[in-house]
Amino acid sequence: MFINTVTGLNKVFKDDIRRPKVVLVTGPPGSMKSSFIYTLLTLHLSQTNEFGVYTTLEESVSSHLSNMENLGINLCLNLQITDFTDIRQDGDQIDYLKFLEKMLRHFKKVKGDKFTCFALDSLGALYSLMDGEKNMRKKMYHFFQLLRDLNLYCFIVMERSQDSESHLLGNEGFLADGIIYLGLKRRQGRLSRFIQVEKMRACEHSMELHAMDLRMGKICVLGPIFE
Ligand SMILES: Nc1ncnc2c1ncn2[C@@H]1O[C@H](COP(=O)(O)OP(=O)(O)OP(=O)(O)O)[C@@H](O)[C@H]1O
Ligand SMILES: [Mg+2]
Repeated sequence: MFINTVTGLNKVFKDDIRRPKVVLVTGPPGSMKSSFIYTLLTLHLSQTNEFGVYTTLEESVSSHLSNMENLGINLCLNLQITDFTDIRQDGDQIDYLKFLEKMLRHFKKVKGDKFTCFALDSLGALYSLMDGEKNMRKKMYHFFQLLRDLNLYCFIVMERSQDSESHLLGNEGFLADGIIYLGLKRRQGRLSRFIQVEKMRACEHSMELHAMDLRMGKICVLGPIFE
């Protein structure tokens, strides 16, 4: 999943991960959260012939696809993109988590063991749709449990301001198996991107910040950044 996909990611991960895994991908706006996950999944799926689902809540399917196309990132037929556009029109009484559960169970039924990857972009958007709901902590615990029961690699985008500590992520930080931080650094007037693994259960990984760049549609991890 990590080592043979994004170029240079083998500098960050010494071991690969096994399913099931729920990984939070956190970072400020524009830190390449969406493009990183999308790239990771398309590369993994095209190499393995497995099937994945990418659910975008921030934007529509077509806007997500055109963003990825603009960045030069290749699409992959094994990765289905879904959004909530249709169910949002159903009114206020929607149980969004139930809807996600139904969707995931549907794909598991249709695709069987080939369905291995799921991305949710983003948790912040899901929470704002579910604003005012009670027992969120319990509901999220069950949702994460469902993702594990379905034996998936899951990548969940979670917005996070620059420099905020991982313990401020709240409950999700503890529930997740992994936390990847994508950040921005201003150096000599230029914004550069980096990746850092803050937590990854059952996996040996680097603790350093690694520079990350997008060149001609390819995200690549460069060397470690020493401050
Ligand atoms: N080589 C490049 N060409 C074009 N855009 C680039 C390049 N490198 C970085 N970017 C930036 O990457 C951004 C897209 O990243 P992406 O949408 O994946 O970020 P994000 O973290 O998901 O953002 P958001 O928080 O807004 O969802 C673009 O808006 C652009 O600013
Ligand atoms: Mg995004």
